[in-house]
Amino acid sequence: MFRTHDCNALRKSDIGQQVTLAGWVNVTRDHGGVIFIDLRDREGLTQVVFRPEENAELAREAHTLRSEDVIQVSGRVAARLPGTENPNLASGDIEIIPSKLRILNRADTLPFPIDTEPQNEDLRMTHRYLDLRRPRLSRNLQVRHRVAKATRDYLDSQGFVEVETPILSKSTPEGARDFLVPSRIMPGKFYALPQAPQQYKQLLMVAGVEKYFQIARCFRDEDLRADRQPEFTQIDIEASFVTPDDIFAVTEGMLAAIFKAAFNVDIKTPFDRLTYREAVSRYGSDKPDRRFGMELVDLGEIFRESSFKVFRGVLDAGSVVKAINAKGFAGITIGQVDELTEIAKLHGAKGLAFIKIENGEWKSPIVKFFSDAEKAALKSKLQIEEGDCVFFGADKWEIACEVLGRLRLRIAEIQELHGRARPEPAPRGEGAPDWDFLWVTDFPLFEWSPEENKWNAMHHPFTRPKAEDMPLFDAKKFPDVRAEAYDVVLNGVEIGGGSMRIHEPQLQEKMFEVLGITAEDRQSQFGHLLHALRLGAPPHGGIALGLDRLVMLICGEQSIRDVMAFPKNNRGIDLMTQSPSEVDPRQLRDLSLKLAKDKKT
Ligand code: AMO
Ligand code: AMP
Repeated sequence: MFRTHDCNALRKSDIGQQVTLAGWVNVTRDHGGVIFIDLRDREGLTQVVFRPEENAELAREAHTLRSEDVIQVSGRVAARLPGTENPNLASGDIEIIPSKLRILNRADTLPFPIDTEPQNEDLRMTHRYLDLRRPRLSRNLQVRHRVAKATRDYLDSQGFVEVETPILSKSTPEGARDFLVPSRIMPGKFYALPQAPQQYKQLLMVAGVEKYFQIARCFRDEDLRADRQPEFTQIDIEASFVTPDDIFAVTEGMLAAIFKAAFNVDIKTPFDRLTYREAVSRYGSDKPDRRFGMELVDLGEIFRESSFKVFRGVLDAGSVVKAINAKGFAGITIGQVDELTEIAKLHGAKGLAFIKIENGEWKSPIVKFFSDAEKAALKSKLQIEEGDCVFFGADKWEIACEVLGRLRLRIAEIQELHGRARPEPAPRGEGAPDWDFLWVTDFPLFEWSPEENKWNAMHHPFTRPKAEDMPLFDAKKFPDVRAEAYDVVLNGVEIGGGSMRIHEPQLQEKMFEVLGITAEDRQSQFGHLLHALRLGAPPHGGIALGLDRLVMLICGEQSIRDVMAFPKNNRGIDLMTQSPSEVDPRQLRDLSLKLAKDKKT
């Protein structure tokens, strides 16, 4: 037997036993010739003590050990000397007195020590296998596994069947650029890696599968951020003969099962619901973080008759005046004002008006334009008190909401309103952060793209309009048409989104038409789907959750990179394997490809 126990197994009750452990040398300490080694494996640490007076030869050999050498140790479990127990270590009452040491492999000098938080992300990614030995990341991989397993178990219990769909597939428009794979057998033709299994899962509904799910890999060539990777994983779900309430119930049940498995906590279901319009009006975001207040307040009533020309003019033009009250933020620094003004401008504001309430005085260049009645109304509506700082947004509804929403998030960050930045993992639920789940419903069906000068689908082109908005759709009042679409939000992060789909071929054709897809393109790109809809397609709908984002939140991480084994960096590069990389010209020739930079030769 290679080992009798793992490094987190031995306790007081094992004292006197002969055991064999194997693992990595976490740290070695030399206390006047006595060598202390923390032996580490996936499960934890156990101390091994080589005393020259007990075994001089072994102690001499142990003296040569360095961090991350791989060893096997046999010996006796002994009580630690009184006063040297380590209460922070599960095996802290005992140590191993070795009788045998086998050095299984030596490690070179490490590029970074693994028992501290390395600062250099590139170095971590280049040596990811070393990075992953760190307990935090090792724990993240285990949590991810538990989440995936709870997902499968729950969906199985509800009659969902996991079906794999192709990776070499055809482009589905989910809003990003496709990754393409050239075909060797069909020169000049390409597969697309799926941005999501959207069309396949709908076709599975036409196929009569009725309840489908898949833990599915998706690929999107888009700008990367902390919560975006070019390849990521969805918990993808689709069902026939359902209403949105059915999808909400199965998603809530699944998330409850996941949180039970990962944390042993019971989350509160059903989740609250907000319409898109309400979410954006109150929080300035379609993925509101409700763990703190600072809601957007509409001031239209107060300033409708105002003699303050800026607000009055905005209201007369049909736009809005809104504000947030940042409690206790009157001490805002000049640097913070500059930063917040920058954020406001970046999102379309012309400037940033604010009032500081200090020493009983309202400090702001705009206050002199307010009447006493307006001031009193502001004070009661925004619950203004000493020490507050009020920020105004006066603009088109979309812009005012977005600007104040962004400021709200940034101010909360500055004031640390969402609690500690990185809550310690709470595998048993103790000290777990608040979990604020929320459905956002009734998204607009379309959004206008000024760059392309056309309407795009806000979710995707297969999402159906709300039945009561069909007259608006027919009347071409596109901005007002709401979709039967919903997102699930956790602590201000969009963890999933879905919709009821169009199952009528005529409506799907109309939808493509509004999106400016020509009849010819409709046939070449979506002919298979349109045809399938004509051959007995049941009403259906579904959702997809970002597994990486969910696990990121569960693990208290700031980036989905930390819950993926081998992620790409922010330029889409896998630094460990140096991918993407150049390929042999012969491979290009096989694929009938020529690089533009090589064209001349
Ligand atoms: P959507 O595009 O909203 O919907 O994606 C669903 C969820 O996937 C996650 N996600 C990502 N995670 C990491 N990196 C990315 N680049 C990334 N992009 C998206 C998000 C998001 O909420 N087919 C539809 C679903 C449906 O209609 O059923 C779809 O893909 O958490
Ligand atoms: P983005 O991730 O930048 O593409 O944001 C998606 C959408 O989130 C935006 O277009 C807005 O509709 C919405 N949003 C508005 N305000 C905020 C905010 N303060 N924080 C995050 N998202 C916001």
